[in-house]
Amino acid sequence: MTTTTTGTTAVTGAVGTAHTRVEGLAKVTGAARYAGEIPFAELAHGWLVLSTVARGRIRSVESAPVLAMPGVLAVLHHGNAPRVDGDYLGMLGRPDPIVEVFQHDRVPFMGWPVALVVAETSEQAREAAETLVVHYDAESHDVAFSAGRPGTYTPDAAGMQTEKGDLEAELAASTHVVDAEYTTPEEHHSAMEPHAATARWDSGRLEVFDSNQGSTWVADELAKLFSLDPASVRVRSEHVGGAFGAKGIRVHQILAAMAATVLDRPVRVVMTRRQTFSLVGYRSPTAQRVRLGADSDGRLRAFDHQGQSLTSTVHEFVEQSAGFGRPLYDADAHHTVNRVVPLDVPTPTFMRAPGEAPGSFALESALDELAEKCGMDPIALRARNEPAVGPVSGLPFSSRNLLSCFQEGARRFGWADRDPRPGLRREGRWLLGTGTATATFPVLVGPSTAAVTAEADGTFTVRITAADVGTGARTALTLIAADALKVAPERVQVRIADSDFGPAMLAGGSMGTRSWGWAVTAAVRELREQLALGVDIPEQGITARSDTTEALGALTQKERHSFGAQFAEVAVDVTSGEVRVRRMLGIFAAGRIINPLTARSQFIGGMTWGISMALHEEAVRDPASGGHVGADLAGYHIAANADVPLIEADWIDDPDPEDPVGIKGIGEIGIVGAAAAIANAVWHATGARHRHLPIRPDRVL
Ligand code: MOS
Repeated sequence: MTTTTTGTTAVTGAVGTAHTRVEGLAKVTGAARYAGEIPFAELAHGWLVLSTVARGRIRSVESAPVLAMPGVLAVLHHGNAPRVDGDYLGMLGRPDPIVEVFQHDRVPFMGWPVALVVAETSEQAREAAETLVVHYDAESHDVAFSAGRPGTYTPDAAGMQTEKGDLEAELAASTHVVDAEYTTPEEHHSAMEPHAATARWDSGRLEVFDSNQGSTWVADELAKLFSLDPASVRVRSEHVGGAFGAKGIRVHQILAAMAATVLDRPVRVVMTRRQTFSLVGYRSPTAQRVRLGADSDGRLRAFDHQGQSLTSTVHEFVEQSAGFGRPLYDADAHHTVNRVVPLDVPTPTFMRAPGEAPGSFALESALDELAEKCGMDPIALRARNEPAVGPVSGLPFSSRNLLSCFQEGARRFGWADRDPRPGLRREGRWLLGTGTATATFPVLVGPSTAAVTAEADGTFTVRITAADVGTGARTALTLIAADALKVAPERVQVRIADSDFGPAMLAGGSMGTRSWGWAVTAAVRELREQLALGVDIPEQGITARSDTTEALGALTQKERHSFGAQFAEVAVDVTSGEVRVRRMLGIFAAGRIINPLTARSQFIGGMTWGISMALHEEAVRDPASGGHVGADLAGYHIAANADVPLIEADWIDDPDPEDPVGIKGIGEIGIVGAAAAIANAVWHATGARHRHLPIRPDRVL
């Protein structure tokens, strides 16, 4: 794997140099405690019981026999649980009504929580939970997702639909037209650390030790849900073993808090892997139609991307796959629309690069098909349609370095030597091919507060309610603070993930480090002004605080994006239909890179997920039961080490012009376009287009 950086930004301090994680030693020695393993005296354990019908009502929960079992302390359910009020607006709007857990007898999907058995030990709770009998009045359900099925609608929410120009006229006037349908399956986050929370009442405050993407977010929602004074809720999330969009307010925190209230002792709730399949959200399957029309020279006249996803019957979440191409390629007529259909399934949610991941598979595959029709190189086709301003918005780009990514990527991948004709390269039983695709992701930022303390011993302490979900955010903030303070990183301690530190953006939308870094540099600027006065530092130190709400409010309207170019080489076994990825290269223009070591891991992790998405991942629902078939990591396949070849990720110099540190955000772009690059390589190897993921052996043969 390469260890060079292409970037040429003059870097004088800690930012831009490779640093291992500041908590790395604690993590690899087991000293770092995750939410499910922090010890507490008098700790009780809750075990979830989930519905076994996909729609209906709970008739009865037969608690009595279970309450007589060893160690069992309580059986919470809709008949006896503390009341909550889910009618509020949280950080991301109205919550998924799953927060109103145990508030009514309705079952809207298979795997809905119907009871929590609490016992002295986790084993006792589990045994009792598996013994608990729940009776239902089942109703008929419908979980069958397909393109254009009855009930599909275009949501009213902003941004679901964009239309510029006369699409049908431009299609009719086009020399080359691609009209193709693509599907992606239901996919799950499958974080290595399943959701876990311990709740307790301490001196009149509700304290929750959690695994989440934002302790401000979770604390705020718990306070609203339980009608508590926000100051009386404290949420901490010191270490997180993966999140990917799934770790917000979920039933584990709520039920741990309910049980801690009822029993007046600390209660821990840990989800099993299987339970995460219905309780934490997932990526909706998509059915997409892409129509592209071009002149003979490849210039787009018509662009139409229609995305369809599913949602639950209780809440609307839309996987906006059709949004992907809005900033990318210009066309005389440019139409996009996202549609959705409610079914008797759990509500989907954000999952790494929501919208962009499935959307890029469809659109970047369609562009490859168009390049073939035009007799053009796929990179040249993209260059031909590079817009001067946002194709839909008309707004200028804050910076746009897509073509530089393709140039650098093509050079390093050896693209110039490629024979574009498919099905020509053979090595024994393997057909070989290469493919490419565009990656892009929006550059966002959210308001945060931070505090920086100059300690009497010459060190500095940063406090911010950031979350390090495994990305290395804590280390990145250490480097950012060190450079701002003009001291070595060893003199800076960054404390994160404690809602008592004040409001901050969550780790999501690839905007964590940018949002928190902005606040940290602002607090340091304030501190340096105070220290410039030559004051002596008292024993408790000198603390400066920041709040970026106003500064971010002054940002003007622009198209802000990261970009990237994905390349893949595959070998396809003509006897078994197996696709092996042989190598991948991703070149990204994603702002200033804070820590090359962890940034490279983040890109490679996303690209690895692209392999998974292209070849392995697929949650299968049984229409008869309404539940999953094989809801675990044996049945739900993800790329294993043996599936992952040499992956190189690198970047070009692309500092954000507005961010104080030059950050854009790198959390999600690594997966974007990766599956399309692989699918395009499979076409180049075999001559067959694969428009349905995953590209399983039975589909290849
Ligand atoms: Mo990510 S899907 O923005 O948590």
